[in-house]
Parts: sequence; C-alpha cells; structure tokens
Amino acid sequence: MSSAASLRVDLNGRILPAHRAGLSVFDRGFLYGDGIYETIRAYGDHPFRLPAHLDRLRASAHRTGIRLPGNGAGLTMTVHRVLTANRLADARIRITVSRGAGGPDPALVKGLRPTVLVTAAPYTPPPPAAVRDGVRAVITRIVRNDRRAVDPVIKATSLLNNILATREATGRGAREAILLNPAGDVAEAASANVFWVRRGVLTTPSLAAGILPGVTRAVVLDLARRLGFPVREGRFPPAALMGAEEAFVSASTIEILPLASLGGRRFPARRPVTRALQTAYRVTVDAERGG
Ligand SMILES: Cc1ncc(COP(=O)(O)O)c(C=O)c1O
Repeated sequence: MSSAASLRVDLNGRILPAHRAGLSVFDRGFLYGDGIYETIRAYGDHPFRLPAHLDRLRASAHRTGIRLPGNGAGLTMTVHRVLTANRLADARIRITVSRGAGGPDPALVKGLRPTVLVTAAPYTPPPPAAVRDGVRAVITRIVRNDRRAVDPVIKATSLLNNILATREATGRGAREAILLNPAGDVAEAASANVFWVRRGVLTTPSLAAGILPGVTRAVVLDLARRLGFPVREGRFPPAALMGAEEAFVSASTIEILPLASLGGRRFPARRPVTRALQTAYRVTVDAERGG
C-alpha cells in the first residue's frame, strides 16, 4: 500500500481510506491555519520518541487553547493503528489537530469539537549523497516569527512564514533556509534546528532565540554530551555560523543532515563531529526499536 489515495488515515477516531476522509469546509485548520501538529518518523513499526512528540503536542495545545481530546491519551494507540492499517515499515506519521469547524469568520466560538487527523505515509529519506556530503543552505531575508507573535515553540499548522523562507532558499539554489530571529541572531531552519561546530564546540541557538524545541535537537544534545563534545547553547549572530568548521540541521525526518555551504561559504568536507553524531543517532534508533 503506498499510493496516497490507497493510504488509510484516522479521522476523529475512525480509520478510513484517505480519499473518503472529508473535512468541513469551515474547518479552522483549513481556513485560518488554526491548528497544531507533529511529524514523527517510524523505524519499522517503532515511532521514534513518540512520547516526546506527544508532550510537545500537549504543550502546543495548552498554548493555543486547542482542545486535545483526552489530553492526547489515545494518540499512541491511534498512531500504531494507522501504521498497522497501512502495513508500513518506515513511515512518516503526522498528527494534526485543528480547533475544529466553526462559522465562516475567524470569531472564536465556544464548544468547538477539534478535528484530529493521523496519517502515515511511506518514508522517503534524503538522498545518500546529501547525508554524506551535505546540502546547500542560505540565510533568508524572511525572519523567524517573533516570540511575541505566534511563538516558535508552538508547532502550528500555519506554516506560511516557513514556506516562504523555503521558497526563497529554493529560488536561490539551496535546499535549506536558515532563518534569523527578529533581533538578527540565528534561529533555526525552516523545518529543522541548526547546529555548528566552532573551535571544537558544538553550538546551537537556545530556546530563548525563538525556536521550536526539536525532539531530534534534544537527542543530538544528549548524544553530544555523552560523547564528550563540549556543547554551547545561546544567542549567536550569523557570523558565528558562517565561521564554523562544521554545520548541520536536525529534524525527525532527516535526522542529522550536514550543510555543505551557507551562501557563498563552503564548509570543510571533513566533519568529524557531525559524522560521530550521525553514527550515534543511528545506534540510538536501533537500540530503541529493539533491533
Ligand atoms: C521549525 C522547525 N524546527 C525544528 C524542527 C525539528 O523538530 P523535530 O526534531 O522535533 O522533528 C521542525 C520539524 O519539523 C520544524 O518545523
């Protein structure tokens, strides 16, 4: 089972073929991006770090006032049900929760029933050459959302800002968009966190820089400490990243992807810290899936 039309999804607790799962035209997720989500990578039948993703979904729900039925208690089972229904080994799972279907204007009304959609699709990894040699990145003119607006800690379905940044990066010949925060410091990539190594120190923007607290980011930080690499989190200007010896981005669906270049600057091809972390990440995944 792999074509999108033949996939089975769970919509509000019911497993349905994707083409039969219908949403209200007044769903606020569709009309206003009034929703939250999580993307999870399944290795075999093991959804990696599902509890951490569900914790972040609960945090997003809390911050937005979007009601998560049962506080998300049933979602672990739902995720496994969807994986099994599609007989997928290696999947990209998405949990999307919108505030629900309201009226034809954005006014908030009480008592909305949230829409909960869980999908699983076959996983496509980044090309092996990208994992080995890295991808191009640029710093975009589009900046990451101000923490006083839609705080980047919320994993919101309203992704237009990040999409425009990716569009800008693609137009400039890069795969990854690196966004600064409104103060001009490095924040993160459009759908990944960013790390670099400078004078042997693994460095990454802190949560105070206005970023999504990535599940993969937390794994990377933990592995780095265990491997004995010095780690630094904080606020850093783009020159810090530009002057790095190594750089990479991290996210559930790409794991650890090296940056070959940032704008006109090429990073050295030797990436000892990145390689060590890529290997350690794989070992962690294998240990957790019990294989
Ligand atoms: C803006 C942003 N930052 C970081 C990440 C990485 O998060 P995670 O490691 O939890 O997948 C994502 C994931 O999609 C993202 O959208």
